Amino acid sequence: MLKRNGVITGNSIRTAFILTLSATICTLSCNTTPPPATTSKPEEAVFVAPDTNTIPHDKFGDLVRYGRDLVINTAYYIGPNGTKGHYLGNKMNCTNCHVDAGTRPFAFNFFSSYPLYPQYRGRENEILTLGQRINNCIMRPHSGTPLPLDSKEIVAMVCYMKWISTGVPVGGHVKGDESLEIEKYPTRAADPKRGEAIFNENCSSCHGKDGQGQWTPDSATYVYPPLWGPHAYQVGSSPYRVVKMARFIKSNMPDKKAFWYKPFLTDEQAIDVAAFINDDSIHVRPTKKDKSVVDYPDYSKKAIDYGIGPFIDTFSALQHKYGPYQPIIDYHTAHHLPVIW
Ligand code: HEC
Ligand code: HEC
Repeated sequence: MLKRNGVITGNSIRTAFILTLSATICTLSCNTTPPPATTSKPEEAVFVAPDTNTIPHDKFGDLVRYGRDLVINTAYYIGPNGTKGHYLGNKMNCTNCHVDAGTRPFAFNFFSSYPLYPQYRGRENEILTLGQRINNCIMRPHSGTPLPLDSKEIVAMVCYMKWISTGVPVGGHVKGDESLEIEKYPTRAADPKRGEAIFNENCSSCHGKDGQGQWTPDSATYVYPPLWGPHAYQVGSSPYRVVKMARFIKSNMPDKKAFWYKPFLTDEQAIDVAAFINDDSIHVRPTKKDKSVVDYPDYSKKAIDYGIGPFIDTFSALQHKYGPYQPIIDYHTAHHLPVIW
């Protein structure tokens, strides 16, 4: 068992997680400055995942519990030295990005994931099931090889996501299932240099001066996950997109200082630090393993901040990656092209 700023983490996670979760809920509801939206209109309240005590004691419940364990202790089960198979290429856990095992609002949670799949995905230009989408995260942020879709592990994670979404309508969204929006895109390009200063001041204490995170003492996984380098997420994966990453940072980082109802960084700062983290001229990170797979065969389905060409419009890869984004949005709107984030 390991202590991280008073929060217990590690493999004895079940009780620890419940504590963390209730602490999180308490932070949200018992704080002296309560989140405004939840108090004003009850129908707009942020979604709260069901209590882990309500996981049923039957075969389905057993898989839900295993799925949650997998999301928290991913490296332990399916990491490079995993007890259930060697699938991940790094030792991150799903919960490093899908915070609090995918139950924290505005933090890449799984609130609506089960109800929203099967779903069209632009990268593959295909309809994917939730199991296939999980494998995408195993291949890209984790630089790994996909699990068999009928493996106990995929089925368990899907069961866990189904359980989390209890009460969410099929095909529906709930408040808090996406990160906070960027209110207004800066009129200039994101600036990795400014981002570096923000990183050194607000992020390096946990993620390390070199961005490599901090290992647990046995190097089995992380206390603080890496943001770049050989063990971090891949080029082209979702967090590699500057705006997608900036929205997560705005809602959640620095950890314990930023909350979705009280962001710590301004939109511009979040964008600049995301640009610094994702700047390949400063940092290395793994690249796609199978280069023969063509991503986004239909260019019009690329997100605005997806910085790898070719593009449906005339803007450069650099402008797609770092902005300014508004001219691209305006161009897409004027030419009846989709505006995807
Ligand atoms: C380095 C960060 C990172 C890691 C590690 C990671 N993911 Fe993801 N994942 C993301 C991001 C970013 C998205 C896109 C979220 C969005 O678009 O809002 C995503 C999307 C998903 C989605 C689609 C969610 C939805 O509602 O559309 C699923 C399911 C998912 N991840 C499962 C997993 C699982 C399971 C693991 C562990 C095996 C994992 N991810 C590990 C970053 C990560
Ligand atoms: C107090 C420690 C702390 C500080 C300071 C902090 N983080 Fe984090 N960060 C974490 C933890 C812990 C996680 C993983 C969530 C978990 O495992 O519960 C995380 C996860 C992340 C992730 C997603 C996982 C990954 O590795 O890609 C990003 C991106 C991130 N932080 C960026 C930042 C940025 C940018 C700053 C500064 C503005 C920052 N963090 C400051 C503790 C911290």
